[in-house]
Amino acid sequence: PKDKGWWNENLAQYQGFWLPSLAVLGALLINDHFKPRPTDIILSTSPKCGTTWLRALIFAIINRNSYDFEHHPLVTTNPQDLVPFFEGYIRRNGSCSLLDSLPSPRFLSTHLPYSLFPKSMASTCRFVYICRDPKDVFVSKWHFMKKLRPKELAPISFDEAFELFSRGVSHYGPIWDHALGYWKASRESPDQNVLFLKYEDVKKETSVYVRKLAEFLGVPFSAEEEKEGIVERIVRLCSFENLSNLEVNKTAKEPRIKTRPVSNPDYFRKGQVGDWMNHLTLEMSRLLDQISKDRFQGSGLSFDLQE
Ligand code: A3P
Repeated sequence: PKDKGWWNENLAQYQGFWLPSLAVLGALLINDHFKPRPTDIILSTSPKCGTTWLRALIFAIINRNSYDFEHHPLVTTNPQDLVPFFEGYIRRNGSCSLLDSLPSPRFLSTHLPYSLFPKSMASTCRFVYICRDPKDVFVSKWHFMKKLRPKELAPISFDEAFELFSRGVSHYGPIWDHALGYWKASRESPDQNVLFLKYEDVKKETSVYVRKLAEFLGVPFSAEEEKEGIVERIVRLCSFENLSNLEVNKTAKEPRIKTRPVSNPDYFRKGQVGDWMNHLTLEMSRLLDQISKDRFQGSGLSFDLQE
């Protein structure tokens, strides 16, 4: 089945998920050609769950000995441009040869569901997954996606978009199944190579999670680094306040891709937990909470739900 999605790009239902054609092609090419390495780091997210932030944090953690903080690439480059988008990179090149030529450790970002990756990757690479309360994801997505809708089409209404989202019809949706795939892998994988994070937790205690990430990625902070305050410097460098106020993320207004009117500032909106309260009716928030409860029942996964 196909659906026009939120901004007139066909989404196809593939193995239970609503995916753009780029993702389906990317997944097929990955399965056929990608040669995983044990040093590979795959950041996986549903769109609007904190991809940009985690790209920045992981980049800063694994490259902390290559740059000083004043001349850090994150000061002059949007995190989207520092980390290859896995399925997009492969699809554009039609092969994995460019990825094959990248030095280790390779750090790639993806929106693909866990079940679409080959078994060889599941047992070899490290996956970091970040999820977020679907209510905030919907609101974030609504603001982002409406920019992408072609001008010649009537704008999609908030209610229409909500109805699609709650049915799972949104990029890489349903968000619940996306999160569950990684959640189960994080608990059941004998290789312990899936780190499952929540945006809300990372927001509350960022430095705790920076340490956790470093450990998981095999590069824990030394006592000396701790003494020098490197963790806190990484937290500050990657904070919403810092990144969103950098020249490159604030003023670069040209579209990132010619056909899509999205520019660097669009990746930084509010960066808060609970902005859904300013947008959703009580009925809407209850519906999304109920779906989360139903879908996650018995899995051990939940969000702190508040009205
Ligand atoms: P909001 O729209 O709620 O503000 P993604 O990067 O996956 O597209 O997610 C975008 C969301 O993450 C947006 O949420 C954006 O503001 C927020 N975000 C971007 N950078 C962030 C940062 N450094 N810290 C916290 N949130 C950030």
